[in-house]
Amino acid sequence: MAWIKLLVLIMPCIFLWPCFLSQAETDTLKPGQLLHDWEHLVSAGKVFKLGFFGPSWESLDVGAIAPRYIGIWFNEIPYYTLWVANPNNPVPDSSGVLTMDTDGILKIAYKGGSPIAISSNQSKKANPERNITATLLDSGNLVLREVDSNGVAGPIFWQSFDYPSNSLLPEMKLGFNLKTGHECYLSSWVSEKVPSPGAFRLGLNPNGTRELMIWRRGQVYWRSGEWKNGSFELAPEMTSRKYLQNFRFVKNENESYFSYSVKSRSDLSRWEFDTLGQITQFTWDRRNRSESYWIFITSSPCNTDYTKNETAVCLSEEPISCRNGSEFFSPKRGYMDTNFLYDFDDNASLALSDCHAKCWKNCSCAAYQSYSQNGTGCQFWNKESKFFSSENSEYVYLLTVESAQGMSIH
Ligand SMILES: *[C@@H]1O[C@H](CO)[C@@H](O)[C@H](O)[C@H]1NC(C)=O
Ligand SMILES: *[C@@H]1O[C@H](CO)[C@@H](O)[C@H](O)[C@H]1NC(C)=O
Ligand SMILES: *[C@@H]1O[C@H](CO)[C@@H](O)[C@H](O)[C@H]1NC(C)=O
Ligand SMILES: *[C@@H]1O[C@H](CO)[C@@H](O)[C@H](O)[C@H]1NC(C)=O
Ligand SMILES: *[C@@H]1O[C@H](CO)[C@@H](O)[C@H](O)[C@H]1NC(C)=O
Ligand SMILES: *[C@@H]1O[C@H](CO)[C@@H](O)[C@H](O)[C@H]1NC(C)=O
Ligand SMILES: *[C@@H]1O[C@H](CO)[C@@H](O)[C@H](O)[C@H]1NC(C)=O
Ligand SMILES: *[C@@H]1O[C@H](CO)[C@@H](O)[C@H](O)[C@H]1NC(C)=O
Ligand SMILES: *[C@@H]1O[C@H](CO)[C@@H](O)[C@H](O)[C@H]1NC(C)=O
Repeated sequence: MAWIKLLVLIMPCIFLWPCFLSQAETDTLKPGQLLHDWEHLVSAGKVFKLGFFGPSWESLDVGAIAPRYIGIWFNEIPYYTLWVANPNNPVPDSSGVLTMDTDGILKIAYKGGSPIAISSNQSKKANPERNITATLLDSGNLVLREVDSNGVAGPIFWQSFDYPSNSLLPEMKLGFNLKTGHECYLSSWVSEKVPSPGAFRLGLNPNGTRELMIWRRGQVYWRSGEWKNGSFELAPEMTSRKYLQNFRFVKNENESYFSYSVKSRSDLSRWEFDTLGQITQFTWDRRNRSESYWIFITSSPCNTDYTKNETAVCLSEEPISCRNGSEFFSPKRGYMDTNFLYDFDDNASLALSDCHAKCWKNCSCAAYQSYSQNGTGCQFWNKESKFFSSENSEYVYLLTVESAQGMSIH
């Protein structure tokens, strides 16, 4: 099946030679050029790469039959997706091509569907007489700008840094452009395999306070406290790795934002805002190819207790009569006795954290699991249900209670 698709795609290009991007690696897509599913842009200093990817990296191969997205990742470390161009509109197969049309809109065209616009209409303001190009910079920012006949680049009128996914990169601004009203915030993914915006959002307090906030399905979930003298009042650990990173909070008549940068040019750095609303700061040292990371847990139950298994799902929920706050959910590979499945929801927008919230609220719920293989939807089991361990199965999340005697799984 995959092989047939490949044939169909490659054939026209053999006869219409110019539809290939030049063989040499380039950082720029010019009007009329096509970037196919198997091609890439590489930034000038070879730091970042842009191309199509599948939600699980096993399907990276050409011809993969899977939803396909355009992403940006570190050239050296392909498995972390740092930006997604079309998080809500995957291409259903590998027929996608990234193109820049003559009025300067970046879009993905594919067989059997209307093109997916990536950049907004504001790029139309560009002068049509001039060339509009998309360039992947060594900062990881994909920028649209005009280039004159001498190759001199004009101002940027659209950039990927203004539309982040779940990753914060050095020099990316989290906050508000006060002139245009545009807001930059991070969105957690629905699941590891579904990059569309999930349950959590990380941004600045909209009331003008110098404070980071996390919302969970629109409700305030966590706040950093005010930025004072180089750190956040309620979250000083967040800026504690000052030997690796510089932090700044800028507020003037044009903009209000938080941003960070790296001290060493040999470090590749990223912050990941994960599906449970946690922030992890990763630093990859290019000299010895080693990675260090620092998990910043934003949910209070886990914050105070480092004895729990770090894979535990531990989210702040409203206290209710049957839960005293010492409960969390342990992931175990296996399956549940289906007789005691009491509810399921196949809504593909539901993230694992939503399953957690629903299970938490029902005193008879003892376990939950995603409904679909791609980590979306929910299934719930009650206390009578038995768990069967099986290494080849998906994770089941089992209610675990911590007591003075230690942990016990219900
Ligand atoms: C902004 O929000 C913070 C936290 O909600 C609050 O403490 C502060 O008083 C608010 N400031 C203004 C100017 O509304
Ligand atoms: C601000 O931070 C610096 C170093 O982190 C410290 O030396 C200084 O005392 C702090 N100032 C105040 C007013 O807290
Ligand atoms: C704000 O923007 C204006 C116009 O672009 C510029 O002249 C001014 O220097 C900016 N102010 C600051 C503090 O950057
Ligand atoms: C890699 O190099 C950095 C800087 O020289 C050093 O701090 C770090 O400990 C090294 N890591 C490993 C695993 O050797
Ligand atoms: C934590 O949980 C994972 C997944 O269930 C398991 O593989 C690992 O051994 C556990 N680690 C500890 C320290 O219990
Ligand atoms: C699916 O779940 C999302 C996220 O909770 C919600 O906004 C949406 O309304 C749900 N859709 C349906 C059809 O229930
Ligand atoms: C709670 O769980 C029980 C099964 O144990 C189920 O019958 C009931 O409908 C659930 N309640 C809600 C609100 O989902
Ligand atoms: C995830 O899986 C569900 C069920 O198979 C499907 O409806 C949904 O479209 C999938 N989502 C994505 C983004 O592939
Ligand atoms: C919560 O309840 C469990 C029993 O259900 C008990 O073992 C534990 O000590 C309680 N924890 C707190 C903090 O009250």
